Amino acid sequence: MRRKVTKAIFPVAGLGTRFLPATKSIPKEIMTLVDRPLIQYAIDEARAAGIKEFIFVTAKGKGALEDYFDGAPELEKTLRKKGKTELLKELRATDMDSGAIAYIRQREALGLGHAVWCARRLISNEPFAVLLPDDVISSTTPCLKQMIEQYTETGGNMVAAMEVKPEEVSSYGILSVTETNGRLLSVDDMAEKPALEDAPSRCAAIGRYILEPSIMNRLRDLKQGNGNEIQLTDAIAQEARDGGKVYGYTFEGQRYDCGSKAGYLKATVAFALKRDDLKADLAEFIKQTAAKL
Ligand code: UTP
Repeated sequence: MRRKVTKAIFPVAGLGTRFLPATKSIPKEIMTLVDRPLIQYAIDEARAAGIKEFIFVTAKGKGALEDYFDGAPELEKTLRKKGKTELLKELRATDMDSGAIAYIRQREALGLGHAVWCARRLISNEPFAVLLPDDVISSTTPCLKQMIEQYTETGGNMVAAMEVKPEEVSSYGILSVTETNGRLLSVDDMAEKPALEDAPSRCAAIGRYILEPSIMNRLRDLKQGNGNEIQLTDAIAQEARDGGKVYGYTFEGQRYDCGSKAGYLKATVAFALKRDDLKADLAEFIKQTAAKL
């Protein structure tokens, strides 16, 4: 029987340089879409997919992220006294069971692959999910849940996939696809940030993964043979080249790249326009402002 995916790694140790100076003191993952931090969207998605253990790979300066998941009894007491039940409900979304959340430190920002490898002892011999909170996905069924449902049938290593514009190919891990079966893509290689002319396709990996524990050994070997950043793409590519099962999954949903300023702003507008309390006012403002351009 295939093992259930109950552990997820959230690599949040990056420097977030694209949002400097804000990220000098605020972790990128705490930045909000309207009023919920990016990390909350990732946690909600993981929970909806059946994840029970949440492993954060953090670094220096990420204290606010750890505090975010602490209990807030004083605040709750005050809200209760004032009868603010809606806000209390919102606050409950941040509750994590004792022991469900673990923080591992990445001492140096040596790349996404290295960040994932830092969690190896907590993963041991189980399949696991990886979620990058700066990729926010709005969908009917949460993206990771879609992937886990597929994984239950196929097993293997799976990356969320989407087609990107030609000019964006060099910013992503790109899949070499041998077969397409509905949303499922069979992958025999991957290229990290290739030039457009070298890219095997325009199908990019984005920040959701389900990985077999053997990927940790690949990362360890990459670490030994490499002085530069350790890329998760390279470990998955090696697995594929050696005949391991690697799939892309073209998820249903709209993905926002909240690691970039434009993507973050688009997500902010899109999420605000979904809110009954903001929609009318904001839509009118956007119309009037755009008309003046
Ligand atoms: P990014 O490539 O977006 O890097 O990382 P970044 O540092 O967050 O942001 P910029 O490019 O400087 O603006 C993708 C994901 O991998 C994590 C990041 O926290 C983010 O979730 N990461 C990256 C690590 O945890 N450790 C690293 O060494 C690198």
